[in-house]
Amino acid sequence: LLQAFIFDLDGVITESAEYHYLAWKALAEELGITFDRAFNEELKGVSRMESLEKILVLGGRQDEFTPEQKASLAAKKNDHYGTLIQQITPADILPGIAPLLAEIRSRNLKLGLASVSRNAFTVMASLGLKDEFDVIVDAAEIKRGKPDPEIFLTAAQLLGVEPSACIGVEDAVVGVEAIKGAGMFAVGIGSEETLAKADLVYAHTGLLSYAEIVEKFDQA
Ligand code: BG6
Ligand code: MG
Repeated sequence: LLQAFIFDLDGVITESAEYHYLAWKALAEELGITFDRAFNEELKGVSRMESLEKILVLGGRQDEFTPEQKASLAAKKNDHYGTLIQQITPADILPGIAPLLAEIRSRNLKLGLASVSRNAFTVMASLGLKDEFDVIVDAAEIKRGKPDPEIFLTAAQLLGVEPSACIGVEDAVVGVEAIKGAGMFAVGIGSEETLAKADLVYAHTGLLSYAEIVEKFDQA
């Protein structure tokens, strides 16, 4: 029986995934490394330092920096990202999300957030959603990032529900893998091809249907 929904944040609840992309792209260009949106798919859901590492590997520059220099590159990206997210207001909640959250609430189901972003609390506060969720699990509370299921399992545990009674919502390939690894039903936001491991995929949040999701969950 369905008891909870656990959402990813960036790219699902709000378009902050675009701000991550822009901030990484600016840093990469300073380093003479160019990347496109296809490569950016590999950064979605991936922690700050791991993302930097992937970008440096892409540019063949992974051995050129000391750990301290890498930390300052990551800090530079985060400063830029911090400036970009200052513009976030409740108006930036993506289409379809507010009605879905209301529907979930009206059924007395639990709500969890599973984001590896260290900016998750700031973004949730700016969206006016911080107190709408029963639990927010971020990078500070986990040892292993997505695709490890730890973050979704931790959220379920804190909500006091079994993983099999949860639906996870994600836009990242590694995020969908984490949801499936946790033994949950996975709803993907994005392309069906990219998120092939999800149980149900919507091209964008505006298409999310509570009724359809629950129907598919019940059939699974
Ligand atoms: C994830 C994003 O939610 O958080 C990634 O999808 C990002 O793109 C990661 O790298 C870490 O975020 P932050 O805010 O801690 O740098
Ligand atoms: Mg995401």
